Amino acid sequence: MAQQEPVTSTVEDGIAVIRIANPPVNALSAAVRGGLAREAGAAAANPAVRAVVVTAEGRTFIAGADITEFGKPPVPPTLPEAIAALEDLSKPVVAAINGAALGGGLEVALGCHARVAAPSARLGLPEVKLGILPGAGGTQRLPRLIGAVPALKLMTAGDPVSAAEAKTLGILDEVAEDVVAAARALALRLADGARPTPASAAANTGDREAFEAAAAAMAKKGAENPSIAACIDAVRAAFDKPFEEGMAIERAHFLRLRDDPRSKALRHAFFAERAAARIPGLPKGTQPRPVARAAVIGGGTMGGGIAMSFANAGIPVTLIETSEENLQRGLERVAGNYATSVKRGSLTEEARAKRMGLIEGRVGLEAAAGADVVVEAVFEEMGLKKEIFGKLQEIAKPGAVLATNTSYLDVDEIAASTSRPGDVLGMHFFSPANVMKLLEVVRGAKTAPDALATAVEVGRKLAKVPVVSGVCHGFIGNRMLARRTSQAERLLIEGALPEEVDAALNAFGFRMGPFAMGDLAGLDIGWRIRQATGKKAPVADALVEAGRLGQKTKRGYYDYSGDGRTGTPDPEVRALIERVSAEQGVTRRSIPQQEILERLLYPMINEGARILEEGIAARAGDIDTVWLNGYGWPAGTGGPMFYADGVGLPGIVARLRDFAGSSGDDTLAPAALLVRLAEEGGSFAALDEKAAA
Ligand code: 3HC
Ligand code: NAI
Repeated sequence: MAQQEPVTSTVEDGIAVIRIANPPVNALSAAVRGGLAREAGAAAANPAVRAVVVTAEGRTFIAGADITEFGKPPVPPTLPEAIAALEDLSKPVVAAINGAALGGGLEVALGCHARVAAPSARLGLPEVKLGILPGAGGTQRLPRLIGAVPALKLMTAGDPVSAAEAKTLGILDEVAEDVVAAARALALRLADGARPTPASAAANTGDREAFEAAAAAMAKKGAENPSIAACIDAVRAAFDKPFEEGMAIERAHFLRLRDDPRSKALRHAFFAERAAARIPGLPKGTQPRPVARAAVIGGGTMGGGIAMSFANAGIPVTLIETSEENLQRGLERVAGNYATSVKRGSLTEEARAKRMGLIEGRVGLEAAAGADVVVEAVFEEMGLKKEIFGKLQEIAKPGAVLATNTSYLDVDEIAASTSRPGDVLGMHFFSPANVMKLLEVVRGAKTAPDALATAVEVGRKLAKVPVVSGVCHGFIGNRMLARRTSQAERLLIEGALPEEVDAALNAFGFRMGPFAMGDLAGLDIGWRIRQATGKKAPVADALVEAGRLGQKTKRGYYDYSGDGRTGTPDPEVRALIERVSAEQGVTRRSIPQQEILERLLYPMINEGARILEEGIAARAGDIDTVWLNGYGWPAGTGGPMFYADGVGLPGIVARLRDFAGSSGDDTLAPAALLVRLAEEGGSFAALDEKAAA
């Protein structure tokens, strides 16, 4: 099939306007790079052309390199070559930045001799988030144009800035509504004057000492991130080396990092997150229902954060409680959170006032009548939830989506308590709900396709990462977490200490291990669940029974008698664990760190495989997205299923068989899907690709 030419140009009044049209985001595919170089050549050769404008079609200017081409054989021209073709023109070239200019997109603009952007445009160098560094001159042109310190800050943070900020930084010459008209006018003025200095020859790098100080601070903060060190090294060359040599240094870092497993994992995470937004099995043309107003029932830990998420997205929300007193407590907590953000400088007073203004507190379920989406976040009790959904069937508007934030309860049973089960689903937020990105959207047996599409769309509007899960105990995330929790407890009984178990996960890249996490959350939560379900965890139960509930009692798996937040190993805990081992007739042994890690991670991967074979998750990538965004799985390893592919599935199957054999615990036996993939030489990634095709 002949592809439509993605780069075209028209000449009018002495100006060649080069247009990029490569939907959806104008990524710099081989055809776009080739087109840019070709049109630059045509403009050079055409005597009727006095100046050039580069712009793009659609909502974005250019979202950067085409990430799907990474790892494939390179097709010339390279992006640095295409950009050089623009910069080397003897006629002035002006970028007309109509929307987001990210990564290679900003680098194209930096290769132009001047830049005009729309007020809504965002500009940035997000490469570090993909485990690389700007690889098309960004580390060389930007410091020369705006100074090494601000340039380094921009590329190590990876977050885009607004057009107004970019103008202040000196990246932009102008901000204008009609970017092409403004760029044309600027191009003509430049054509009448002296040739402007290209960014590669600018001399604004700035003070070397200030750079070294900033670099040292960033190197310390980003010590575990090889992209940061590479950015620093490349930007330093902007002081010391001619432009071409700096480009060579940047290129070498770029190629090395691009081919590193860490960048592959981060790219996997990028695409997995986007794939997760595609809901499998929805009838074609399913449209989300309109959502103008929300209600949240229950203003406790979760409800308050969920209400904040709506307000943060500009959606008015009613927070509903049972009494004036509970309502005030909930609203005060919300107000306190916002006040803290203002104090920290992450929120303006104006934004705070606007957000608080979007949250209305009310007593009584009747207040849910005006909402298009209702999120229930009351106590985790089936009877109470059923009662509430039963009432909502009368109170809520026809067509309103009725969501429960339950962690473990059966969404189908809740749906059965109403006459409108098609409107019911789970919207499982994570704590703190105003901060955590993950949203598990739980699809009940009777959930209507458009209700499901609405919940996913609402999740995206709330700036969450929605992942669809089927109904099961704990959904995707908590169901896998339970496997890790029970193994962590087993490891203690067999011979490990809490600090050894936590250290194994810290070394792998988790910020917190299961025991430090348990102490933070409070050990009474799990204890209460075990009491209700008749389950046992001898070590955890003994701690709670000894009054060690975690940080809040200054004692848990660790001792917090110092500052209250830093735990130190406690000989009393060691004695308690040794006692439990003895009671269980277990001879304790020293357990190597690698074994601890395998014992914690492989049973989770195994549960992930079961979740896939049962169709609870549609893709292995969805499971990775859950763990990366909800549980602090280290991003550089791509999530549990991607990590499993890297380890090798046959090895994992063999280890799980060992674990099941030596413990007699059948839940550790490898899942059928895992065994099949291992035998076929398959992988979770290949399984997802097959499903997508
Ligand atoms: N390459 C290939 N595909 C890309 C892409 C890219 N750089 N950026 C986005 N896409 C794809 C997405 O995968 C998605 O595909 P799908 O519809 O099949 O799932 C589609 O474009 C739309 O993307 P989003 O769903 O993310 O759309 P949004 O409107 O929400 O966001 C965006 C748009 C802000 C541009 C966002 O896509 C984004 O942040 N993109 C990545 C930006 C980036 O990281 N750029 C740097 C690339 S590396 C680089 O440039 C190296 C250079 O220095 C040499
Ligand atoms: P919480 O105990 O902090 O808050 C529950 C609130 O609901 C209380 O303020 C209570 O007054 C209110 N409430 C009770 N009955 C009500 C009614 N009939 N109408 C209106 N309000 C009522 O509980 P939390 O932690 O916020 O949990 C709520 C739900 O979210 C539970 O289902 C829980 O499983 C789930 N969840 C909890 C997470 C957490 O980390 N705490 C994480 C994810 C989900």
